[in-house]
Amino acid sequence: MNIRFPTEAEVPEAFRLGAPLEQREYLVGGQLLRWDGPQNEVVSPVLMQTPAGLVPKVLGSTPLLTSKESLAALDAAVRAWDLGRGAWPTMGVAARIDHVERFLVAMRARRAEVVRLLMWEIGKTLKDAEKEFDRTVDYVVETISALKEVDRDSTKLLHEQGIMGQVRRVPLGVALCMGPYNYPLNETFSTMFPALLMGNPVVLKPAKFGVLLVQPLLEALRDCFPPGVVNVIYGRGRETVGALMESGKVDVLAFIGTSKAASDLKKLHPRLHRLKSVLGLDAKNLGLVMADADLDEAVSECVTGALSFNGQRCTALKLLLVHRSVAEVFAQKLTAAVSKLRAGMPWEAGVSLTPLPEPTKTAYLTGLVADAQQHGARVINEGGGEVTGTHFAPAVVYPVTRAMRLWHEEQFGPIVPIGVFDDVQDAIDAVVESPFGQQLSIFGRDPKELGHLIDSTAHQVGRVNLNTQCQRGPDSFPFNGRKDSAEGTLSIGDALRVFSIRTLIAAKNTEANKRAVRDILTGRLSAVLSSDYLL
Ligand code: G3H
Repeated sequence: MNIRFPTEAEVPEAFRLGAPLEQREYLVGGQLLRWDGPQNEVVSPVLMQTPAGLVPKVLGSTPLLTSKESLAALDAAVRAWDLGRGAWPTMGVAARIDHVERFLVAMRARRAEVVRLLMWEIGKTLKDAEKEFDRTVDYVVETISALKEVDRDSTKLLHEQGIMGQVRRVPLGVALCMGPYNYPLNETFSTMFPALLMGNPVVLKPAKFGVLLVQPLLEALRDCFPPGVVNVIYGRGRETVGALMESGKVDVLAFIGTSKAASDLKKLHPRLHRLKSVLGLDAKNLGLVMADADLDEAVSECVTGALSFNGQRCTALKLLLVHRSVAEVFAQKLTAAVSKLRAGMPWEAGVSLTPLPEPTKTAYLTGLVADAQQHGARVINEGGGEVTGTHFAPAVVYPVTRAMRLWHEEQFGPIVPIGVFDDVQDAIDAVVESPFGQQLSIFGRDPKELGHLIDSTAHQVGRVNLNTQCQRGPDSFPFNGRKDSAEGTLSIGDALRVFSIRTLIAAKNTEANKRAVRDILTGRLSAVLSSDYLL
């Protein structure tokens, strides 16, 4: 699994970047403000081959804002909210959709730049970077359709015990949206756009890597929304978002990252019960391989499930537990399949393993493998765990036991730990004991056993996959988790719900009240009691 980093001259013309992008603007209150203070250097996981050896490629830099600028951005969002009376929260649904559709036109025009930055900043392959971009656009388009449906449905008049009522979905207030580095565009925008479409002004803090890729979209974010509706800040989390949370003015925290970071942020908020949280957190998804599983199918799903984007997916399969009767064969087949994967640069065709963006990641992964080896496991694939600069060759580690860190820790990288069980109950216990509860994959054929496994685990995780890898999509399916893995449910429809709350307009069922409701609706005399999609 050798990898060869390129010289500057070897980077294909189509994927070359120009001079480093020194980004000094940030977006507050409808203006791109210039920052003249310290900058955070952005380097690529794609190293450059030079006569002096492998060197990091500097991609540019972003502002290291302080709490002062961050709080100014928050205040701009608070003004746009204006206790729910601002232009954005009171705007009709059709007009809000219009703003978002204008942004989508501008966003599509910058596809190539964003895709290129995704490749350079986080090492995502061309195919996956394009997929991330297109999936994000589709997500927003489908969210718009779902919102029209919500708007249409909300005009129903309910009658109960002499009271008539209309239930409306209203926004919650100011949302702070923060995404993760593995899906820096998709997971940030798939919370930000539902939040916006429901009428919440937003402060966006880009992910720790994949941060420059917001720059090509900054002008469009400024031009397509009223002032203060979208604000974008940069800098260290503690200094920037810490101050925002302490202010108590954040109404919704939309955060994809670790449960520790989410807890630390939530604790800073002085009015905890007023804060709504939408969180996608740690996961250690298990793949359970039963004695009667179709091993070729299981191997194929497990390899994709464990190693897509180098295992840097919250939904990745992070521990495989295999019935002892088939464990050796499964491990051999999986090793053979892993050996066929190609490592290389993100622009190379057929490559699925690429350099890792976190600077300390290869050392961390090496430590996990060493710990497993000390406790009796082996790396069973040739070259597994070899480090070349920022590249870590995928390691298949077998047999992994509870004594090892790999059993418990979310590696979020290219290690495939395989453990063994004798009794199905042992596998169920592993699911139950885990502090995480995002998803699970079960590979097997006996319907009776599958039924038993579903019933024993469905209350532990948000999704049980049968003979299929764990994954977020299709995006219309609910995406959530139990225990320390998530708070709230996301999907094209659910996201609109989590960024809003139902409010009821009720009245005694009299002719005069009916007339009043009708007059308000038809005369468009209320922002809340209104509909743009009645027909
Ligand atoms: O990293 C977490 C993502 O939501 C995973 O999404 O399963 O589509 O790769 P995915």
